[in-house]
Amino acid sequence: MKLSLDTLSNSLKIALITGANIGIGRITAIELARQGYKLFLACRSPERTQPVIDEIKEITGKIDSVTFLHLELSDLVSVKKCADAFLSYNLPLHLLINNAGLAGAKGITSQGFELAFGVNHIGHFLLTKLLIERLKASEPARVVTVASRAHRLATNGISWQTLQLPTQSFTGTQEYAQSKLANILFSSQLSKNLINTGVTTYSLHPGVVDTEVWRKVPQFLRPILRLRKMLTPEQGAQTTLFCALNAPSHETGLYYDLSQIKVPTSHALDETQAIKLWEHSMQWTAPFQ
Ligand SMILES: NC(=O)c1ccc[n+]([C@@H]2O[C@H](COP(=O)([O-])OP(=O)(O)OC[C@H]3O[C@@H](n4cnc5c(N)ncnc54)[C@H](OP(=O)(O)O)[C@@H]3O)[C@@H](O)[C@H]2O)c1
Repeated sequence: MKLSLDTLSNSLKIALITGANIGIGRITAIELARQGYKLFLACRSPERTQPVIDEIKEITGKIDSVTFLHLELSDLVSVKKCADAFLSYNLPLHLLINNAGLAGAKGITSQGFELAFGVNHIGHFLLTKLLIERLKASEPARVVTVASRAHRLATNGISWQTLQLPTQSFTGTQEYAQSKLANILFSSQLSKNLINTGVTTYSLHPGVVDTEVWRKVPQFLRPILRLRKMLTPEQGAQTTLFCALNAPSHETGLYYDLSQIKVPTSHALDETQAIKLWEHSMQWTAPFQ
């Protein structure tokens, strides 16, 4: 069923992007604003998001072209409030970009999930679930999830026994890899659940990008990481933008790198694991749905 749009022209496209105050998400938001999208920026801090809000208003010349939504992905109460806040605008949603993420941080979320898994996967799983009917009602619509080539480091797949414990590894790398594997499995399973709805899904690796994501990575690892030439955030946003704007709809559920389909690891293609992750994520987030 299509939403009735009293105040908006049917041609207005609306996107919600998580973690848009900085890095890849910030550039993605700015480029989508240039393409005419009305934006909802779901971020942790209004103060840290204000500069990109100002920038977008300057580009579009419209004060209502961008709206801040508070989102703390490590707390499912906040995720629910964020989704409710968006839904209360009674607007369509054509594009959900699950971009926010952390690497190398250690801890546990408010509901007891390992920090990287909780923020990068569980928070986005619930947000997507809460917005899915709106996406369907707005079809054609897309869900783009920023994963990572680092999923390759999850060589044993998902370690189910670690998901509800504080981060165990010294660098947090193993947990980050696992959370990014979860992003790919989630996007793939979501596409299967959305067959014939007009909503398509894409996951991607943005490249190795010079952003704040490395801020929690231990000091001794940083020179090693810097040996590789990193992309600028502008370059790093290109695959997200390709998936959001140009990837063919029949390529739903696939994983992209350098704006091209890339075959991820066998763990990321494991349909049994994708279903298991989906079912567990449904159970874990059920109190907030
Ligand atoms: N940079 C790379 O080389 C690289 C490579 C592969 C994949 N990625 C992925 O690309 C995505 C964007 O990362 P980036 O490189 O642009 O890093 P970034 O500059 O650090 O941006 C990350 C964004 O996520 C937000 N975020 C972190 N924890 C959050 C939480 N608990 N709740 C809500 N928002 C939270 C941050 O908000 P605050 O500013 O409030 O912390 C920030 O807006 C991530 O998913 C990352 O895993 C990056």
